[in-house]
Formats: sequence, C-alpha cells, structure tokens
Amino acid sequence: MNILILGGGGREHSLAWAVMQNPKCDKLIVAPGNAGIAQIAECADLDIMDGGAVARFCEENAVEFVIVGPEAPLAAGVADRLREAGVLVFGPSAAAARLEASKSFTKEICDAAGAPTAGYARFTEVEPAKAYIRAQGAPIVVKADGLAAGKGVIVAMDVDAALEAVDDMLGGAFGSAGAEVVIEEFMEGEEASLFVLCDGSDILSVGTAQDHKRIGEGDTGPNTGGMGAYSPAPVLSPEVEARAMDLIVRPTIAEMAKRGMPFQGVLYVGLMIKDGQPRLVEYNVRFGDPECQVLMMRLGAQAMDLMHAAAEGRLGEMQVNWADDHAMTVVMAAQGYPGAYRKGTEIGGLDDLPEDSSHIVFHAGTKAEGGAVLASGGRVLNVTARGETLSEAHRRAYEMADRVDWQDGYFRRDIGWRAL
Ligand SMILES: Nc1ncnc2c1ncn2[C@@H]1O[C@H](COP(=O)(O)OP(=O)(O)O)[C@@H](O)[C@H]1O
Ligand SMILES: [Mg+2]
Repeated sequence: MNILILGGGGREHSLAWAVMQNPKCDKLIVAPGNAGIAQIAECADLDIMDGGAVARFCEENAVEFVIVGPEAPLAAGVADRLREAGVLVFGPSAAAARLEASKSFTKEICDAAGAPTAGYARFTEVEPAKAYIRAQGAPIVVKADGLAAGKGVIVAMDVDAALEAVDDMLGGAFGSAGAEVVIEEFMEGEEASLFVLCDGSDILSVGTAQDHKRIGEGDTGPNTGGMGAYSPAPVLSPEVEARAMDLIVRPTIAEMAKRGMPFQGVLYVGLMIKDGQPRLVEYNVRFGDPECQVLMMRLGAQAMDLMHAAAEGRLGEMQVNWADDHAMTVVMAAQGYPGAYRKGTEIGGLDDLPEDSSHIVFHAGTKAEGGAVLASGGRVLNVTARGETLSEAHRRAYEMADRVDWQDGYFRRDIGWRAL
C-alpha cells in the first residue's frame, strides 16, 4: 500500500515511524515532513490545507491511504475532498471535526449525550457574559469558541481576569474564533487524556497519556505546545477509563452518528478526574503532540493496521496487543521558547544515539542543510524511550537527551514527576 501522511511535526514523525515498521506499507510519503522524517520516508512539498491539491497528488502518486496529522486540514474539509475522490482516509469530516473546532458545539453534543462536563453558558455579547461571570464568581474559565492554537482559554482565578478575557475575546483578539465565548465552571482534579479510534460506530482505546504544558520545572511559567508526555497515565486506571468510555465517549459517538456526522479517526478525550470520576475538558479530533509519540512507541507497527481498520469501518474486528510497557518523551526546545528564540542552530550527536524499539529521537522543528541537522522551530526534538516501568523509560529518555549536542537546547528535567 502507498501511504501519505499530512503534517511535519514530532507527531507525524512518530506516525511515519510506526507505519514504516508495517510490512503492508510499500511506500510512504509525508507532506511536508521534516529532517527526521526525510531519513525514513519521502517528503513532498504540498499545500496540505488544499483538499483538491492533496487529492490530485494522491492520484498522481497512486496513494491508497492518507493519515491526517493536524486539526487544521480536517477542519478545512481535506478528509471530505479525499473521500469524494475515492481515497481512503484516516481523519474526520469537517462536520465531525467541529468537536475540536467549536467548543460550544462540543458542549451541545455533551448535553444531548448526557456526558459529564463542566457547567457552562455561551455568549456573543460582552455585557451578558460579564453579568454571568459576576453572578458565578471565580475561579471560572473563559474559552474562545473556535480554533485558537492553544491560546484561546483563560483559567481565571479572579473575576477581573475573567472580565478582561471576555473583553479580549469578544473584542476580536482571536478573530472569528472568538466571536462566541463559552464560560465554564472551574473543575478541580487531575488532567489526563484518553485516545480512542472510531470508525463511525465502533470504538477502540489506543491508550492513555499525560503531558506537561508549562515551560518550567514544577509545571510553572508560560504554556507551551507541550514539553513532555508519558503513557500510560496512572490516574486513568482501567476502571476510570471504562467509566469515561461508557459515560462520555460511547454516547458522544452515538450522538454524532445520529446527527448524520459519524466520527471517523482518533478522538483525543481530554479529561479532568476527581475521586475516580472523569469529566470532559475538551475533545480534539487528532492525536496530541507529544502524546502521539509515546502512544506510537508503545503500539509500533499495529498502529497502522488499527488506523486502516478505522478508515475502512472494520474496527469491530480489531484489538490492541498491549505489551506491559511504559513510554516517555522529553521535548527539547530552543532556548527562549515559547517566547522569542533563535532558528538555524546546529544539532550534533544524533547519529550516535541508540535507535531501536526502546529508544528513538523523533524530530519536530528540524531541517537538513548540507548534511547537518538545524533547529527550525520552537519545539525541536522529542527524545522518546520505552521501558518495563516508567522509571526505566525515564532513565533511558534522559540518558539520550544528555547525549544530544545542542548548545541552544532546553528541556525540563522533571517530566513524569507526578507519576514517578
Ligand atoms: N472547566 C475547566 N476547569 C478547569 N480547568 C480547565 C477547564 N477547561 C479548561 N481548563 C484548563 O485549560 C486547558 C486548556 O483548555 P482546553 O479546553 O483543553 O482548550 P485548548 O486545548 O483548546 O486550549 C486545559 O488543559 C485545562 O488545564
Ligand atoms: Mg486542550
């Protein structure tokens, strides 16, 4: 089978790595890819937001199966264009991708499905939103309705911060994504994520993970795209996971099917867990980055069979062959990230690192130039390891990170502290 993966981050490198281990893959192309992906697959220069262009590329290159990495092309309808062109695709329609692209749509689905989530109200006007905040008091959470690249949520510890967030969002700071705001009850608890493949009707869990969003050790400082992750998440015990599947995921998938917008792809279920009871924080309609890296490390080649079965509507026949293992990824970022940082600094020592089923460095923001690997983004490398225990995965990941020769690199030393 000829396969195309859309995207070019650490998530897509890990997807490419898993797909390449599967003997059913004859040829793999990744668009746009990065320096690490270029070492294992062909990279193509293609506008992945243009569904027509992607469909033509598939025809010209005899691509039979497309895996969509990021949310933006899904929300833009790229999976719909591919299905119209008769190409098999892993990823939801634009209609189903609203589970990520509109927070108020998700709330509406949760209401209809009876799924436990934070109490909320929706507003398009400033004054009613502010009156609601004053009546509810703090802490309280203000969210821009649409896609805001992880910057559209303010967890306000006092009323003034919430009022200011309303002014910003409805005042246009997020463009059309902030034309509506969702104001939510603040939920206490521990956060973790559950990843569920869906084929429109059947569902299959492919693992749990926890990530670290803040730049600084001890989970301090500004938010980032994610500085590390590990799987499984201890807080998502089999009992809690089963509860989340029964109370949240299954009713959501049934409600989407009932509305004529069946969800096919991977549902990223963000949960808040308190006293063993999960409530939904949000859905995403693709794998997390860096959570995908630890999931792929654990699943290996079978990940491709599972995604293929989801795309073909055969998930009911499938099961995951779990090893009793743990995985951790440590993100190496450019000094200064998530603020201003330098690009183009050279990274050495990568060729001397072990690369096997327990050790791999996935590339995020890198590019190859004259035989050297250069940093080309904020989050640059995902140093990923597997072990029989989380401490073993942790030790292996940090041994590798310490051997990477990159003067400008920064990474947190405490990934996994909560679980270790
Ligand atoms: N109702 C809530 N109560 C407490 N914390 C929340 C709530 N909603 C969101 N958060 C926090 O804010 C973060 C971002 O919110 P989320 O809904 O995941 O939006 P996005 O990922 O699109 O920015 C969450 O990971 C969580 O830490
Ligand atoms: Mg989130």
